[in-house]
Amino acid sequence: MVPNKDSLDDMFKNPEIRANYVQNMFSEIAPKYDLVNRVMTFGLDIRWRNLVASAAVRSDANLIIDTGTGSGDLALECSKMGAKNVVGLDFAQPMLVNARSKSKKNNFPNVDFAAADATSLPLPDSIADAWTGAFVLRNIPKLDTALQEAYRVLKPGGRLITLDAARLQPSTLVQRIAAPGVRFHFNKLVPLIGKILSGHENAYSYLPVSAEKFFSPNEFSARLRVNGFTVVRVFEFVFGTVMMHIAIKEQ
Ligand SMILES: C[S@@+](CC[C@H](N)C(=O)[O-])C[C@H]1O[C@@H](n2cnc3c(N)ncnc32)[C@H](O)[C@@H]1O
Repeated sequence: MVPNKDSLDDMFKNPEIRANYVQNMFSEIAPKYDLVNRVMTFGLDIRWRNLVASAAVRSDANLIIDTGTGSGDLALECSKMGAKNVVGLDFAQPMLVNARSKSKKNNFPNVDFAAADATSLPLPDSIADAWTGAFVLRNIPKLDTALQEAYRVLKPGGRLITLDAARLQPSTLVQRIAAPGVRFHFNKLVPLIGKILSGHENAYSYLPVSAEKFFSPNEFSARLRVNGFTVVRVFEFVFGTVMMHIAIKEQ
């Protein structure tokens, strides 16, 4: 359990403890994960995953790896958009149970789900046409290792598409005006709504803290470049609180 902000700050200093906390937390909130997502984003999360999938699915693409797939929505969206093969990977088993049950219920024969850690993918080099990750990388203490794994499994010319909560750094006038409301929603309402709906004491207090300790869109682009990627597009949603990056492993 992580009861307060000081303990959360301490946890961020210890990669092993944090990775463990993340794995347990997502396992515990798995039954209510989709519901909380829909409510706290007013359903916008569906639209964002749809954009990630449309950037990942290409007519000549054979395999998409969705890392930190959770309850599988992005992997299934890729399949709906015509992906030939999709593999969803996650290290929280209860999340995978949800993903498999959705896939079975709606008959997605070309989507497989398996347990794996994003920092050590059980895949050969240069096998994937696209690597996707929605709201995942912010949760990984060894971020560079996860990005290097993505780079390794991508074919030359393959695409990495990430979606995540951004560290709030209001740059436009509109973003500055919206910032107090956005902070109130993220720091106060999200933890409260999350606690009521999921029954989990602190999972949704972790969320704003993890976003604050993550990157702004520009900082994250720099991190992708350090790990060998060429950043081709960056999108910002909801006053800069959510960011999407499309990057390429050059030929
Ligand atoms: C916020 S959820 C996002 C799930 C899904 N991508 C979505 O869009 O709803 C983060 C997911 O990443 C998984 N995760 C976090 N760190 C991971 C790691 N190192 N390896 C594999 N999965 C990880 C968690 O178990 C959780 O299911």
